[in-house]
Amino acid sequence: MAAIVNVNGRIADQEHATIPVFDHGFLYGEGVYETMRTYNRQPFLFDRHMRRLRNSARMITLPLPFTDDELEEQIRATMAAAHLGGEAYIRVLVTRGIGELTYDLEATPTPSVVIIVKAQIDPPADTYERGVRVVIVDIVRNHPGSVNPLIKSNNLMNSALAMQEAFRSGAFEGVMRNYRGEIAECTTSNLFVIRNGTALTPPLDAGLLPGITREFVFDIGADIGIPVEEAVLHDDDLFAADEAFLTSTTREIVPIVSVGDRRIGSGRPGAVTLALLDAFRQKAQELSRIGNLEVKR
Ligand SMILES: Cc1ncc(COP(=O)(O)O)c(C=O)c1O
Repeated sequence: MAAIVNVNGRIADQEHATIPVFDHGFLYGEGVYETMRTYNRQPFLFDRHMRRLRNSARMITLPLPFTDDELEEQIRATMAAAHLGGEAYIRVLVTRGIGELTYDLEATPTPSVVIIVKAQIDPPADTYERGVRVVIVDIVRNHPGSVNPLIKSNNLMNSALAMQEAFRSGAFEGVMRNYRGEIAECTTSNLFVIRNGTALTPPLDAGLLPGITREFVFDIGADIGIPVEEAVLHDDDLFAADEAFLTSTTREIVPIVSVGDRRIGSGRPGAVTLALLDAFRQKAQELSRIGNLEVKR
């Protein structure tokens, strides 16, 4: 499905949306982004995505040239131009902008802002009904002293290599360890295991993207009485888990039923995972019907 793209306020179809070669997003991968989706045509958890985008931008000293309201207005204009029948996938990218061949910030005074809107394609129903197989990949998640995983960076070479490793073995996702050998997250999603009824996920200082869905799972767990906690996890914790799942904006909560050739739990999506998924979907519907008027965190 073709996308509609807004480049610095100009809306065009996918074939006609362009960025100059001297944009430092292209030259150096210098930029940050967010991926959002709609429920009931409302960008979901918009305030939380804006908070993370501002934090990513701050961590690379990139001034964002818009207020939250201005960006929301541009997103809505792009969605209107896309004429989607259903829900939208929304990707917002902000790069340093156009400048000479130097890393000097002075060279790029005007950031580029791109909004991509296309149809949200949900994973097929059997992804949730049967669960998925993941593999632990050899590519290590970025060291926090390098491009810190807290930054949702446009510079995705490491993640691409990790996911390509997972694709080669036919897996749905690749689980990445950090430089200490602990489990960090997947290449495009966060990871949880269930042990004795508690959902455990690696702490932020394991070096991972603070997923908005990950954060929302803490709220959902509190709502339905499932404890959700951070814990340092190793390979064996994953292999020995009762259940496991991954989270991301576009895929919600996906049950993991095997890791490589090892079965997790019963080898079927677990009851705790499915309860969280059900509660997640209900709350997403509720919040989007009342215009995302959740309490701001
Ligand atoms: C590395 C990584 N971790 C986790 C996530 C999940 O984050 P969110 O729930 O905000 O979509 C993503 C999403 O793209 C990601 O790229």
